[in-house]
Amino acid sequence: MARISVGLDIGFSSIKVVALSIDKNVPKLLSLGSIASPQPGMASDGVSDLESVGIAIKKLFSAARISSKEVVVALPESKVFTRVIDELPYLTNQELDSAIRFAAEEFIPMPLTDVNLNWQILSRANQKDKNIKTVVFVVASPKNLVNKYIKVLSNVGLRPQALETEIIASTRALVGNNPFSPTSLIIQMGATTTDCAVTSKGMIWLTRSISSGGLALTRTLAQQFGFEINQAEEYKKVYGLLEDQLEGKVYEALKSIIDIIASEARRVIQAYQAKYPQNPIKRVVLSGGGAKMPGLVIYLAQNFGLEVQEADPWYLISKDKGLEQKLLKDAPLFSVAVGLALREG
Ligand SMILES: Nc1ncnc2c1ncn2[C@@H]1O[C@H](COP(=O)(O)OP(=O)(O)OP(=O)(O)O)[C@@H](O)[C@H]1O
Ligand SMILES: [Mg+2]
Repeated sequence: MARISVGLDIGFSSIKVVALSIDKNVPKLLSLGSIASPQPGMASDGVSDLESVGIAIKKLFSAARISSKEVVVALPESKVFTRVIDELPYLTNQELDSAIRFAAEEFIPMPLTDVNLNWQILSRANQKDKNIKTVVFVVASPKNLVNKYIKVLSNVGLRPQALETEIIASTRALVGNNPFSPTSLIIQMGATTTDCAVTSKGMIWLTRSISSGGLALTRTLAQQFGFEINQAEEYKKVYGLLEDQLEGKVYEALKSIIDIIASEARRVIQAYQAKYPQNPIKRVVLSGGGAKMPGLVIYLAQNFGLEVQEADPWYLISKDKGLEQKLLKDAPLFSVAVGLALREG
């Protein structure tokens, strides 16, 4: 029997939903959709702001004809504490448990009792081979954040089966758990943040959230050229980082912000390669709405000196022929929602 799995990504600029039917591990697309996010949306703690988010979600589900009540939901990377703890020696399960909690206390700026702590063991030391270290990917989600999401969803009759960070979801859609996919840097550029993850052997080894994204690009154009926000948004989407357009003026303005994001991303590359020199990053996958900016893929390829690809979260999903062309257009915007829906139940 096929099961239905729904991924819901409540972004700052839009809310996306993807419904898959999963039969014997083969995912097939049932439905998808997106709707503009109300402002300020989930960033607010106000009751009526959060109600507006619920109303938008309801509209989206009915437009996409999704009746399933169980959903997998994304948490914003910038509000969740994520760290890879490595250099741990051989430890028994119980010792590892307390080593992780001890390490977590250092990087989580709130009491452990206030977070949901989860971890995944990436590699495990053994007593024979002293060269293998234990490496653990730790995720701590503040309970008040999780409760806010659960409340918004339950107000509109939805039941979150799981909540996970955007970059974890996005990575699942883009590299799956394929142990043979090349070591990659995933850059997920949304409206408010740009999240990065280094993946190897189908697992995440490093993450970073950069507090700048598409919105900052639009704002800089609005400011420098005296544009309305909508007009600035259009210029960004049409001219982007194309140097030969409008005497390079839009290019120059956007470049100032992109260079900040790119240098942060380069630091992620360097940090990973300093730690794992034997396993260099082979490619960069650019995801989120920002990936669609004209000229960005080429600009980053030159900047990093690496192959850069635009994300295609649909490549693992079977879909009807008629849909394929339609999916291509906004593909990178759906990486998070697809990854959420692909999460194993
Ligand atoms: N063709 C394009 N060129 C440039 N930027 C684009 C293009 N299409 C979308 N964007 C930008 O991508 C952003 C929206 O992307 P996305 O839907 O991934 O963000 P979000 O999930 O709503 O935000 P966040 O993840 O920060 O909460 C907007 O800033 C938008 O301007
Ligand atoms: Mg997003």
